[in-house]
Formats: sequence, structure tokens, C-alpha cells
Amino acid sequence: MQIYTLKNKSIEVDFIARGGQIISIKVPDAEGNIADVVVGYDTIDQTLDGDAYFGALCGRYANRIVKGEFEIDGEKFQLDCNNEQNHLHGGFDGFNLRNWEVRPVELEEYVQAFQLSLTSEDGDQNYPGKLEVSVIYGLTDDNQFVIEYEAETSKPTVINLTSHPYFNLNGAGNGSAMNHELLLNASNYTPISAELGTTSGEIVSVKDTPFDFTTAKSVESACNVDHEQINMIDGIDHNFVLDDFDGTVKLAGVLSDPKSGRKMEVYTDQPGIQIYTGAHFNGSEIGKQGALIIQCAGIAMETQIFPNSPNYEHFPNAILRPGEKYKHVCVYKFC
Ligand code: BGC
Repeated sequence: MQIYTLKNKSIEVDFIARGGQIISIKVPDAEGNIADVVVGYDTIDQTLDGDAYFGALCGRYANRIVKGEFEIDGEKFQLDCNNEQNHLHGGFDGFNLRNWEVRPVELEEYVQAFQLSLTSEDGDQNYPGKLEVSVIYGLTDDNQFVIEYEAETSKPTVINLTSHPYFNLNGAGNGSAMNHELLLNASNYTPISAELGTTSGEIVSVKDTPFDFTTAKSVESACNVDHEQINMIDGIDHNFVLDDFDGTVKLAGVLSDPKSGRKMEVYTDQPGIQIYTGAHFNGSEIGKQGALIIQCAGIAMETQIFPNSPNYEHFPNAILRPGEKYKHVCVYKFC
């Protein structure tokens, strides 16, 4: 499997066509020491056999749809339920498992860029409509790794694309990312219902909860609080509602590692960001540097609409119709 590389003066991003999986992002610290800051594996063979969400493009609907059910214009659809009773990240054969067509493209704003394309046929994983997806991976000279998504459909469908790297700014394989500090421009979050296995549909203020990252604090300090929502999933696996959403690209959050001094800013035009502290990693797998992939080996920051949006009228619109264009920008900027 070929490795594609985006490179500027200081950082390097490597990915493969399978799932568009970002397999490494090499970033210097202030002294110029390079670390690979995404959780993954040392070899391509391990990558292909391992957790196929690592660094991957997720779709057609990233995150969960309760019982895989939704309705458009009165018509009911039933998707695969690949996550207990729910549909997760596009189903058993999500976009993370597809071989994307990759070609280099020249775009003014990027030092280097690739376009990744995918056709998802009408009825794919039971989703209606043929969906044509284009994703740009671009790297700027000021260390912004930009992901630009576009999609068009032949019939009304639901869509929510995202990218799924887990970041450890001290270097993947160098222990837990729990010490990282997180800032989120989110005054509200969407709590989880244990019964539904995903958001209850409520939008709740983060004030006086461990989910208040409106000023930076360590992820650990939130995960250590005895709080029903933290206890339920042994950490954070929640969607945060970004403030002042208006469809333009804005700062969503900042992740920083006090140990190495590396810092990453996340920008998006999406209304939400899923923060996942990797509760399901249990040290049973060997990852980069031959180290076990332990709990919170990295933190995922997935820009998107909210989980289960197709079933909640007051959540962002998940429906894409023929003639419309789905657009989404996510920027990971290394500072
Ligand atoms: C979800 C987790 C899920 C993980 C799978 C994340 O985006 O929020 O609940 O276990 O993906 O890799």
C-alpha cells in the first residue's frame, strides 16, 4: 500500500488510500525534536490489520444514529447496526474501510495537496442516494493541515463526515495524553443517555460540570471528577456545541502538551466537535514505538454535526438533497 506524503519546512503528514488513513504527523517541538503525534502502528501491515478508525475518514454518517433509523420526507430508512443497537461511523463497511482514489492537486493555498475521491452507491450500507465525495488534504507553509470535504447526492440522504486521528502531542507511544490541556469554545455539550448509547437530545450548559473547557484545563482534571456522564463511559466521549456557529471557519479548540510544549489549534465551520479520550483502549494492542495502546493513548477531536442529528429536529440539519453541496472544513494547526 502506497504512502502519500505532505511536507513543508517543518512538518510531515503521511496517509494511505485505505480510509484516507492519516498514519503519521511528524511535528517538531520548540527545540526541533520531532515526534509523531498521532496514535497508530509502526508498520503498514499492522495498520491494515489494526483499528481502522485511526486517522481515518468516517462516513457516510460519522458518530451514532440510534438504532440505525431515520426518516426523510416520511420515508423510513434502516442502516446497519454495527455498534450494539446503534449505527456508528457509516456501518460495517464505512468510508474508513474504502480505498479512496488519491491524486496530487495544485492549489494556491497549500504547499502540497491531495484530493481523495469516493463514490458511495445508492443503497450503500442502506443509505439512500449515490454520493460523490471529495476530500482535500492540504498542508500550508504555516503548519496547518487542512481537510476540506465536499459531497453531492442523487437522492435526499443524511451525511456527517469527519476525520478520526487520536492526538498525543508528546508523541504516540510515549504514554497517556491525559495530561494534555484542552480549551474548547463550547459553552454547551450534548449529554449521553445510557439507554440510547449516545446523545439524549439535550443541550446542556457546561458550567459547573467537568465538561467546562472554556478556559484551558487538563483532560485528566475533567476525567477524574465523579460525574455521571464521565463515569458512564470512563472519560469523555461527548459532542461539544461550538459557540457562535455561523458556518464560517472559527477556532473550535486548542490541545496542548505541557511536557513537550507542542500545541495544536483546531478550526472548523461545523457546529460541533466530538472529544473522545479513548476509553476502549486497554493495552491489548501494540502501537507505535512497540508500546501498548493504553487508555487515552491519544485524544480524538472530530469536527462534525451532532450525534443522531437525523432524529432530532432541534439538532443541526443532517440532510443533503440533490443540487446541494455538503461542505466541511477542519484545520489542525500545529503551533
Ligand atoms: C466515538 C467512540 C467510538 C470510537 C471508535 C469515536 O468517534 O466517539 O464512541 O468508540 O469513535 O473508534
